[in-house]
Amino acid sequence: MPTLEKPKKRDMLKIDDIHVYRGRTYVLQGVSLEVGRREIVALIGANGAGKTTLLRTISGLLRPKKGKILFQPDSQSQEIDISGASPEQIVQLGISHCPEGRGIFSRLSVLENLMIGAYLRKNRNEILDDYNSICRVFPILKEREDQAAGSLSGGEQEMLAIGRALMSRPELLILDEPSLGLGPIVVESLFQVLSEINSRGVTILLVEQNAIMALDLAHRAYVLETGRVVLYGTSGELAGNEDVQKAYLGGIV
Ligand SMILES: Nc1ncnc2c1ncn2[C@@H]1O[C@H](COP(=O)(O)OP(=O)(O)OP(=O)(O)O)[C@@H](O)[C@H]1O
Ligand SMILES: [Mg+2]
Repeated sequence: MPTLEKPKKRDMLKIDDIHVYRGRTYVLQGVSLEVGRREIVALIGANGAGKTTLLRTISGLLRPKKGKILFQPDSQSQEIDISGASPEQIVQLGISHCPEGRGIFSRLSVLENLMIGAYLRKNRNEILDDYNSICRVFPILKEREDQAAGSLSGGEQEMLAIGRALMSRPELLILDEPSLGLGPIVVESLFQVLSEINSRGVTILLVEQNAIMALDLAHRAYVLETGRVVLYGTSGELAGNEDVQKAYLGGIV
Protein backbone atom coordinates (compact mmCIF):
# COMPACT_ATOMS: atom_id res chain seq x y z
CA MET A 1 0.00 0.00 0.00
CA PRO A 2 1.38 3.46 -0.84
CA THR A 3 2.24 5.52 2.17
CA LEU A 4 1.19 9.13 2.22
CA GLU A 5 4.16 10.75 3.83
CA LYS A 6 4.32 14.50 4.16
CA PRO A 7 7.04 15.81 1.86
CA LYS A 8 10.05 16.42 4.07
CA LYS A 9 11.52 19.90 4.26
CA ARG A 10 14.27 19.90 1.65
CA ASP A 11 17.68 19.54 3.18
CA MET A 12 20.39 21.78 1.85
CA LEU A 13 23.27 19.44 2.59
CA LYS A 14 23.20 15.70 3.10
CA ILE A 15 26.39 13.88 3.92
CA ASP A 16 25.96 10.19 3.42
CA ASP A 17 28.45 7.80 4.98
CA ILE A 18 31.70 9.47 3.98
CA HIS A 19 35.05 7.84 4.62
CA VAL A 20 38.10 10.09 4.39
CA TYR A 21 41.82 9.35 4.76
CA ARG A 22 44.57 11.87 5.40
CA GLY A 23 47.75 10.23 4.30
CA ARG A 24 47.43 6.77 5.76
CA THR A 25 45.28 7.92 8.67
CA TYR A 26 41.67 6.77 8.44
CA VAL A 27 40.07 9.97 9.76
CA LEU A 28 36.35 10.02 8.91
CA GLN A 29 35.02 6.53 9.42
CA GLY A 30 31.53 6.74 7.94
CA VAL A 31 30.07 10.14 8.79
CA SER A 32 26.50 11.10 7.90
CA LEU A 33 24.81 14.38 8.71
CA GLU A 34 22.20 16.73 7.38
CA VAL A 35 21.82 20.48 7.33
CA GLY A 36 18.36 21.87 6.63
CA ARG A 37 17.63 25.03 4.70
CA ARG A 38 18.18 28.16 6.84
CA GLU A 39 19.34 26.03 9.71
CA ILE A 40 22.35 26.61 11.98
CA VAL A 41 24.00 23.27 12.72
CA ALA A 42 26.93 22.97 15.11
CA LEU A 43 29.54 20.25 15.02
CA ILE A 44 31.41 19.72 18.24
CA GLY A 45 34.12 17.27 19.21
CA ALA A 46 37.53 17.00 20.84
CA ASN A 47 40.85 17.84 19.17
CA GLY A 48 41.63 15.48 16.36
CA ALA A 49 38.06 14.17 16.05
CA GLY A 50 37.98 15.05 12.34
CA LYS A 51 35.95 18.27 12.33
CA THR A 52 38.30 20.21 10.05
CA THR A 53 38.66 17.16 7.84
CA LEU A 54 34.88 17.06 7.42
CA LEU A 55 34.66 20.75 6.47
CA ARG A 56 37.58 20.46 4.07
CA THR A 57 35.90 17.49 2.44
CA ILE A 58 32.63 19.40 1.99
CA SER A 59 34.48 22.25 0.29
CA GLY A 60 36.32 19.95 -2.09
CA LEU A 61 39.80 20.28 -0.57
CA LEU A 62 39.80 16.60 0.38
CA ARG A 63 38.17 13.69 -1.43
CA PRO A 64 36.16 10.99 0.30
CA LYS A 65 37.22 7.41 -0.50
CA LYS A 66 33.60 6.42 -0.19
CA GLY A 67 30.24 8.10 0.39
CA LYS A 68 28.26 11.00 -1.01
CA ILE A 69 27.93 14.70 -0.30
CA LEU A 70 24.63 15.93 -1.67
CA PHE A 71 24.03 19.65 -1.96
CA GLN A 72 20.91 21.34 -3.22
CA PRO A 73 21.12 25.08 -3.76
CA ASP A 74 17.84 27.02 -3.85
CA SER A 75 18.11 27.43 -7.61
CA GLN A 76 18.29 23.68 -8.30
CA SER A 77 15.41 21.22 -8.32
CA GLN A 78 17.71 18.27 -7.66
CA GLU A 79 20.47 17.39 -5.27
CA ILE A 80 23.97 17.49 -6.71
CA ASP A 81 26.67 15.07 -5.56
CA ILE A 82 29.61 17.40 -4.94
CA SER A 83 31.97 14.75 -3.58
CA GLY A 84 34.01 14.82 -6.78
CA ALA A 85 33.70 18.55 -7.52
CA SER A 86 36.56 21.06 -7.37
CA PRO A 87 36.71 23.74 -4.66
CA GLU A 88 35.90 26.40 -7.30
CA GLN A 89 32.82 24.53 -8.51
CA ILE A 90 31.67 24.13 -4.92
CA VAL A 91 32.04 27.86 -4.23
CA GLN A 92 30.11 28.59 -7.41
CA LEU A 93 27.31 26.28 -6.34
CA GLY A 94 26.95 28.28 -3.13
CA ILE A 95 29.14 26.87 -0.36
CA SER A 96 31.72 29.12 1.27
CA HIS A 97 34.33 28.00 3.79
CA CYS A 98 35.74 30.21 6.51
CA PRO A 99 38.81 28.15 7.41
CA GLU A 100 40.45 27.24 10.70
CA GLY A 101 43.12 29.88 11.40
CA ARG A 102 41.25 32.35 9.16
CA GLY A 103 43.61 32.25 6.17
CA ILE A 104 43.91 36.02 5.95
CA PHE A 105 46.56 37.46 3.59
CA SER A 106 48.22 39.74 6.12
CA ARG A 107 50.13 41.94 3.67
CA LEU A 108 47.11 42.62 1.52
CA SER A 109 44.62 45.30 2.52
CA VAL A 110 41.29 44.55 4.11
CA LEU A 111 39.55 45.47 0.86
CA GLU A 112 41.83 43.21 -1.21
CA ASN A 113 41.17 40.32 1.15
CA LEU A 114 37.43 40.85 0.82
CA MET A 115 37.61 40.98 -2.95
CA ILE A 116 39.44 37.64 -3.02
CA GLY A 117 36.17 36.19 -1.75
CA ALA A 118 34.45 37.43 -4.93
CA TYR A 119 37.09 36.20 -7.39
CA LEU A 120 34.74 33.82 -9.19
CA ARG A 121 32.02 36.42 -9.66
CA LYS A 122 31.61 38.71 -12.63
CA ASN A 123 28.74 41.06 -11.88
CA ARG A 124 30.44 44.22 -10.54
CA ASN A 125 27.21 45.78 -9.26
CA GLU A 126 26.27 42.71 -7.27
CA ILE A 127 29.79 42.50 -5.83
CA LEU A 128 29.57 46.14 -4.76
CA ASP A 129 26.13 45.56 -3.21
CA ASP A 130 27.48 42.65 -1.20
CA TYR A 131 30.55 44.63 -0.19
CA ASN A 132 28.32 47.42 1.10
CA SER A 133 26.07 45.06 3.02
CA ILE A 134 29.08 43.30 4.58
CA CYS A 135 30.40 46.70 5.65
CA ARG A 136 27.06 47.40 7.30
CA VAL A 137 27.37 44.15 9.26
CA PHE A 138 31.06 44.79 10.07
CA PRO A 139 31.57 48.60 10.02
CA ILE A 140 35.16 48.15 11.23
CA LEU A 141 36.06 46.56 7.88
CA LYS A 142 34.95 49.70 6.04
CA GLU A 143 36.93 51.89 8.45
CA ARG A 144 40.03 49.79 7.90
CA GLU A 145 39.58 48.93 4.23
CA ASP A 146 42.98 50.32 3.15
CA GLN A 147 44.89 48.96 6.12
CA ALA A 148 47.02 45.80 5.91
CA ALA A 149 44.92 42.88 7.14
CA GLY A 150 47.81 41.75 9.37
CA SER A 151 47.42 44.89 11.46
CA LEU A 152 43.88 43.97 12.54
CA SER A 153 43.13 42.47 15.93
CA GLY A 154 42.22 38.78 16.15
CA GLY A 155 38.51 39.55 16.37
CA GLU A 156 38.69 41.93 13.41
CA GLN A 157 40.57 39.32 11.38
CA GLU A 158 37.83 36.80 12.12
CA MET A 159 35.26 39.34 10.91
CA LEU A 160 37.35 39.81 7.78
CA ALA A 161 37.47 36.04 7.21
CA ILE A 162 33.69 35.83 7.57
CA GLY A 163 33.21 38.89 5.37
CA ARG A 164 35.46 37.37 2.71
CA ALA A 165 33.49 34.13 2.83
CA LEU A 166 30.26 36.11 2.40
CA MET A 167 31.66 37.87 -0.68
CA SER A 168 30.96 34.75 -2.72
CA ARG A 169 27.26 35.18 -1.77
CA PRO A 170 26.96 31.69 -0.29
CA GLU A 171 23.78 29.82 0.52
CA LEU A 172 25.73 27.66 2.95
CA LEU A 173 28.47 29.16 5.10
CA ILE A 174 30.77 26.73 6.87
CA LEU A 175 32.95 28.02 9.67
CA ASP A 176 35.85 26.28 11.37
CA GLU A 177 36.37 27.48 14.96
CA PRO A 178 35.59 31.16 14.52
CA SER A 179 35.98 31.81 18.26
CA LEU A 180 39.52 30.43 18.51
CA GLY A 181 41.84 32.77 20.40
CA LEU A 182 39.21 35.47 20.94
CA GLY A 183 38.02 36.97 24.20
CA PRO A 184 34.48 36.32 25.46
CA ILE A 185 33.08 39.74 24.56
CA VAL A 186 34.35 39.53 20.98
CA VAL A 187 32.99 35.99 20.68
CA GLU A 188 29.62 37.16 21.95
CA SER A 189 29.37 39.83 19.26
CA LEU A 190 30.65 37.49 16.53
CA PHE A 191 27.97 34.96 17.37
CA GLN A 192 25.34 37.71 17.27
CA VAL A 193 26.50 38.52 13.76
CA LEU A 194 26.29 34.85 12.76
CA SER A 195 22.72 34.79 13.98
CA GLU A 196 21.99 37.91 11.93
CA ILE A 197 23.61 36.40 8.83
CA ASN A 198 21.43 33.33 9.31
CA SER A 199 18.29 35.41 9.70
CA ARG A 200 19.09 36.99 6.32
CA GLY A 201 18.77 33.53 4.79
CA VAL A 202 22.25 31.98 4.95
CA THR A 203 22.43 28.40 6.21
CA ILE A 204 25.33 27.78 8.62
CA LEU A 205 27.42 24.76 9.54
CA LEU A 206 29.65 25.69 12.44
CA VAL A 207 32.56 23.79 13.97
CA GLU A 208 33.29 24.94 17.50
CA GLN A 209 35.27 23.95 20.55
CA ASN A 210 33.28 26.51 22.49
CA ALA A 211 30.35 24.13 22.86
CA ILE A 212 28.38 26.37 25.18
CA MET A 213 28.28 29.19 22.65
CA ALA A 214 27.75 26.82 19.75
CA LEU A 215 24.77 25.08 21.35
CA ASP A 216 23.35 28.44 22.29
CA LEU A 217 23.45 29.63 18.68
CA ALA A 218 22.64 26.46 16.74
CA HIS A 219 19.28 24.82 16.13
CA ARG A 220 20.78 21.33 16.04
CA ALA A 221 24.17 19.80 16.70
CA TYR A 222 26.29 16.72 16.09
CA VAL A 223 29.07 15.33 18.26
CA LEU A 224 32.01 13.84 16.40
CA GLU A 225 34.41 11.48 18.16
CA THR A 226 37.35 9.80 16.42
CA GLY A 227 35.80 10.14 13.00
CA ARG A 228 32.28 9.06 13.87
CA VAL A 229 29.07 10.85 14.82
CA VAL A 230 28.28 9.58 18.30
CA LEU A 231 25.36 11.83 19.13
CA TYR A 232 23.05 14.32 17.48
CA GLY A 233 19.88 16.20 18.26
CA THR A 234 18.48 19.62 18.91
CA SER A 235 20.83 21.96 20.74
CA GLY A 236 18.57 21.76 23.79
CA GLU A 237 18.73 17.96 23.80
CA LEU A 238 22.52 17.96 23.58
CA ALA A 239 22.94 20.69 26.18
CA GLY A 240 20.84 18.56 28.53
CA ASN A 241 22.78 15.37 27.82
CA GLU A 242 24.96 14.25 30.70
CA ASP A 243 27.83 12.95 28.53
CA VAL A 244 27.92 16.20 26.55
CA GLN A 245 27.89 18.20 29.75
CA LYS A 246 30.83 16.23 31.17
CA ALA A 247 32.92 16.21 28.01
CA TYR A 248 32.18 19.58 26.42
CA LEU A 249 30.36 21.87 28.80
CA GLY A 250 32.71 21.62 31.75
CA GLY A 251 30.16 19.69 33.79
CA ILE A 252 28.01 22.79 34.25
CA VAL A 253 24.76 24.02 32.65
N1 LIG B 1 47.65 16.55 6.63
C1 LIG B 1 47.44 15.51 7.45
N2 LIG B 1 48.07 14.32 7.27
C2 LIG B 1 47.84 13.27 8.06
N3 LIG B 1 46.98 13.29 9.11
C3 LIG B 1 46.33 14.44 9.33
C4 LIG B 1 46.53 15.61 8.53
N4 LIG B 1 45.73 16.58 9.01
C5 LIG B 1 45.09 16.06 10.06
N5 LIG B 1 45.43 14.78 10.25
C6 LIG B 1 44.93 13.88 11.30
O1 LIG B 1 43.52 13.73 11.10
C7 LIG B 1 42.85 13.68 12.35
C8 LIG B 1 41.74 14.68 12.36
O2 LIG B 1 42.25 15.98 12.22
P1 LIG B 1 41.31 17.25 12.11
O3 LIG B 1 42.20 18.41 11.88
O4 LIG B 1 40.23 17.00 11.12
O5 LIG B 1 40.67 17.30 13.57
P2 LIG B 1 39.82 18.42 14.30
O6 LIG B 1 38.64 17.75 14.90
O7 LIG B 1 39.59 19.56 13.38
O8 LIG B 1 40.80 18.86 15.47
P3 LIG B 1 41.04 20.31 16.14
O9 LIG B 1 39.93 20.46 17.14
O10 LIG B 1 42.36 20.18 16.81
O11 LIG B 1 41.02 21.36 15.09
C9 LIG B 1 43.91 13.91 13.42
O12 LIG B 1 44.26 12.66 13.94
C10 LIG B 1 45.06 14.53 12.67
O13 LIG B 1 46.27 14.18 13.25
MG1 LIG C 1 40.12 21.52 13.39
